[in-house]
Amino acid sequence: MVLISIYRLSKTPTQVLIRWSIQHGFITIPKTGQESRLRSNADVFDWSIPDEEMKLLDNLGDHQWSCTWDPTKNSLEEAGLL
Ligand SMILES: NC(=O)c1ccc[n+]([C@@H]2O[C@H](COP(=O)([O-])OP(=O)(O)OC[C@H]3O[C@@H](n4cnc5c(N)ncnc54)[C@H](OP(=O)(O)O)[C@@H]3O)[C@@H](O)[C@H]2O)c1
Repeated sequence: MVLISIYRLSKTPTQVLIRWSIQHGFITIPKTGQESRLRSNADVFDWSIPDEEMKLLDNLGDHQWSCTWDPTKNSLEEAGLL
């Protein structure tokens, strides 16, 4: 279902994930050593993922996780980082 929805966007899975993170307000640094990927990774600012597909992507996986820490939400101790 998620793959079908992504296919409808006519974007690569990488572009969808980068765009998903941007729409959530995450700081995204898609490093690549390949120019074609650099261009593709940067092509995420003149389109958006519809709410329905965002919800599908949000619900992937079975547990909450984060790869960053939001200092406005909790302390380093509360986040388990100290
Ligand atoms: N991760 C962190 O915690 C952290 C913290 C602070 C700063 N940074 C900085 O943030 C930047 C990114 O860090 P990172 O850890 O995310 O980088 P990374 O994992 O070392 O590199 C990104 C990987 O994604 C691949 N990739 C990029 N675009 C792709 C695409 N469209 N399709 C398939 N593969 C793709 C790249 O391969 P190719 O090169 O072959 O395309 C590379 O192997 C770096 O400059 C790093 O110094 C990272």
